[in-house]
Amino acid sequence: MGTYYRTFSSKSSNKKSLTIDTLNPGIKILEYAVRGPIAIRASEIEKELQKGIKKPFNEVIKAHIGDCHAMGQTPITFIRQVLAVVSWPKLLDNPEIPSDVKFRAVEILRSCAGYSIGSYPCPLGVDVIRNHVVCYIEKRDGHPCNLDDVVLHAGAKDGIQAVLDLFDADVDGKRPGIMCSIPQYPLYSAIFSKQNMTMIKYYLNEDKNWSLEIPELERAIEDAKKTCYPRAIVVINPGNPTGQVLTRENIEAVIKFAYENNLFILADEVYQHNIYDKNCKFFSFKKVLMEMGEPYNKVELASIMSTSKGYMGECGMRGGYSEVINLDPDVKAMFFKSLYALYTPSVLGQACLDAIVNPPELGEPSYELFSKEKEAVLQSLAIRAKMVTDTFNNLEGISCNPVQGAMYAFPKINLPPKAIEKARSLGQSPDVFYTRQLLEETGISVVPGSGFGQKPGTNHFRTTTLPLPEKLTEMLQRFKEFHESFMAKYK
Ligand SMILES: Cc1ncc(COP(=O)(O)O)c(C=O)c1O
Repeated sequence: MGTYYRTFSSKSSNKKSLTIDTLNPGIKILEYAVRGPIAIRASEIEKELQKGIKKPFNEVIKAHIGDCHAMGQTPITFIRQVLAVVSWPKLLDNPEIPSDVKFRAVEILRSCAGYSIGSYPCPLGVDVIRNHVVCYIEKRDGHPCNLDDVVLHAGAKDGIQAVLDLFDADVDGKRPGIMCSIPQYPLYSAIFSKQNMTMIKYYLNEDKNWSLEIPELERAIEDAKKTCYPRAIVVINPGNPTGQVLTRENIEAVIKFAYENNLFILADEVYQHNIYDKNCKFFSFKKVLMEMGEPYNKVELASIMSTSKGYMGECGMRGGYSEVINLDPDVKAMFFKSLYALYTPSVLGQACLDAIVNPPELGEPSYELFSKEKEAVLQSLAIRAKMVTDTFNNLEGISCNPVQGAMYAFPKINLPPKAIEKARSLGQSPDVFYTRQLLEETGISVVPGSGFGQKPGTNHFRTTTLPLPEKLTEMLQRFKEFHESFMAKYK
């Protein structure tokens, strides 16, 4: 025995096979500000408070991440009942469970091998749920949708990754370039970093409510052609972190631009239920593209949806879908092959998606409660969005575009030169300095604008509008006091 150990230890070494020098360089450089240093420090402060360390506040308010349930949002009864029954089919005997919930649960279970959500699903998604997604899209857009174009994902992230994977190839000796808005949701920059793809940045116009302007797309693509091969354009609508909702005309112009430049469109439409401004309406890229007719209705498009946002906020369930249209059939076969090999969404996440795309209809037993709960969440989100923008716009040195949709505000802070000097002396960018001070002094965690990208020379931060009304009132009061004293200090 002793000999064995000696022999073993003399052959082994303490050297790691994987070191920071041999690590995938893409992993080293990728950044995801939403869970970056401010979020990490917020969790540390929470632990310090638990240990009894005194702070000028009693609680950390986590406004850095779009996680509705973490902020206290109550789950929608119908969704959770469907999940409960598919997980524990004995509940089918329970008279308290409404018949429409049971009907949906049975449909899902029948589509699962062995009548159990514990069996392996088809990696493209459970058939009956994919069919319900098809009906949802047809009802939303008024246009046909093919089952073959719809695949289910473990959240939008997996769908976005799976679609962007398709572009990871050099063309004419150049790396792929993907157009993406600035500010952007940093999942995109993280994927581009990981895969060494070029992010072609187009700036949204803050002075015109974060509008997406075609001359700016033209500028960005012309510049980029020198260094990469432009392949696709990502559009987030409603916007994260900017909260704007694109007009139909704007979407048409983007589709024309994509057609003229032979670009694939990735429409990130995860906030399609989150529209608060009565003058705004959500138009899917698919609907607009279909209604534009030839030749625009042939543009390749992936539209991405999630269970994490909207009125449901079921981030933990990891449900989502993509509708991918106009793909070359050979490419589509390869896309499906990659999904079969690399991805398989959880059936529970898919069942959650099912409850969203196949909600109770008028006349069904769950309809009234479902509608009441859904409307209550959306109305409250609209009120909170206004509370946030009104507060910011009443503060000296801050301007904030209206939150027309999604669940974030991205205000601009005009910091005094002394604050900028102080930040530089600490080796921090001004927005990081401001948000760090905010966190340390008030316990409010938001994300510095640099994590999403911002025009050089400007400073922003992103806050969610998700704290429940009472908490949000407290947060905004704490914020106001901090901001006023910060501005006075560095005047
Ligand atoms: C624009 C956008 N796309 C995608 C996602 C990822 O969503 P999921 O939780 O479904 O992966 C988010 C999450 O915040 C988002 O804001």
